[in-house]
Amino acid sequence: MGVPEGSAGAATLRYEGTDIELPVERPTLGRSAVDISGIGAHGLAVYDPGYANTAAYQSAITFVDGEAGRLYYRGYPVEQLAMSASFLDVAYLLIYGELPGSQQSEEFVAQVRAPKAVPHVAIERLFDWFPESMHPMAMLATATEALTAYAEEDSAADPGAKVEAAGVRLLSALPIFTGYAMSVVRGLPRGRSNRSLDYAEDLLQLCFTIPGSDHLPDNATARALNTLLILHADHELNCSTATLRLVASSGASFYSGVSAAINALWGPLHGGANQAVIRMLQEIKDSGKPLSYFLERARDKMDPFRLMGFGHRVYKNYDARAKVIRQVALDLVEKLAPADPLLEIALRLEEVALADEYFISRRLYPNVDFYSGIIYRAIGFPDEMFTPLFVVGRSAGWVAHWLEMATEGSRIGRPTQLYVGPVERSVPKAATTA
Ligand code: SDX
Repeated sequence: MGVPEGSAGAATLRYEGTDIELPVERPTLGRSAVDISGIGAHGLAVYDPGYANTAAYQSAITFVDGEAGRLYYRGYPVEQLAMSASFLDVAYLLIYGELPGSQQSEEFVAQVRAPKAVPHVAIERLFDWFPESMHPMAMLATATEALTAYAEEDSAADPGAKVEAAGVRLLSALPIFTGYAMSVVRGLPRGRSNRSLDYAEDLLQLCFTIPGSDHLPDNATARALNTLLILHADHELNCSTATLRLVASSGASFYSGVSAAINALWGPLHGGANQAVIRMLQEIKDSGKPLSYFLERARDKMDPFRLMGFGHRVYKNYDARAKVIRQVALDLVEKLAPADPLLEIALRLEEVALADEYFISRRLYPNVDFYSGIIYRAIGFPDEMFTPLFVVGRSAGWVAHWLEMATEGSRIGRPTQLYVGPVERSVPKAATTA
């Protein structure tokens, strides 16, 4: 991975006998980008379904080297952070651009862990209303939107200070919302945040402790969850972060943007894949059919079955995060759920898929969602809680992206289209009532 060779220079587009000179933007890392913002003057637009080749913003937060299967948060390789840093220190790095010193770390943790940050009574009344049939992702999106009612930071003059205050409130609230959602899913009383614990420990005890009992999460499980939160913290302009930025570009509230991002992440092609993977592994186990049967279905364009947790828009190599998560799964499942057959199925499925021509030719590898659900399941989470845990991690990146837009400014996002509908026509006389 290195800076692209040659000068950024310009690109020439020849169209209907005219040469159109287009400047080329050179990034610090990754693909150079043709600046087509002036192409409209020539009566042209560009067509890029799914934005696979469209750089909509400049950003300094995260870089994904898809060819090499590497991921960098503000230049630091994610695998170095995942095994050594705390999630809140990584959140600080993503938001402010540098790892915190000990005093900065203490102050940031104190802000995020401050009890005042979450309006408990009103939020609890909201969760009292949620039926058990409601998916926890809908609960998180609704509760996050409700924070707009308490956003006194919105009165701050400085856009950066407003986002920083809102970001602290969001990081503080999401473990509580996730614990409350788990209590609805389990039909059990809600826990209380224990501010003497670290972030991952408190998230675990909010989800699993029965009020009145003194159950505290074990160290190995809390460390594994801390690693998972870090690995999920940011990933450039994925579908949900791009959604967040689009909402930010209209000047809407930070919490509305995060609520929209939560809903985008919920989709099974995106963050919802971690839940879909476990259901796929369970289907494979219950079917008694060989893995070859499922690979055949995954290759069959007429069959909607896809190998969930496999493939990625950017990674054309093993997902940097999946490598770390796979090892955490092997270590933790050995300790917590040694008899879980789904891990064995996942390992064999990876082995046969990576040796299969269809997957090799399309450069399809396990992604972040392939093994993460195995870990959450070993810890004891029901599968509908897997994507909410993705939200808790990704919230750090969402704060960073919103702050980057607030401080650097942006135009409202408004893509154009390739119109293929009818040309102008008149309403038939018979159809008009006048
Ligand atoms: C996340 O963008 C991010 O950074 C996302 C994320 C993050 O951190 O924010 O990394 C998190 O969302 C990870 C992805 C989780 N989703 C899944 O695991 C769902 C299964 N994967 C696929 O649906 C798919 O791979 C996507 C959605 C992830 C990527 O879709 P693309 O980039 O649009 O790729 P594609 O659908 O055009 O696939 C290219 C080819 C196609 O075959 P051909 O038409 O060329 O013959 O690969 C095939 C696809 O049919 N293919 C698969 C497949 N994934 C791609 N075939 C079978 N099983 C799969 N999983």
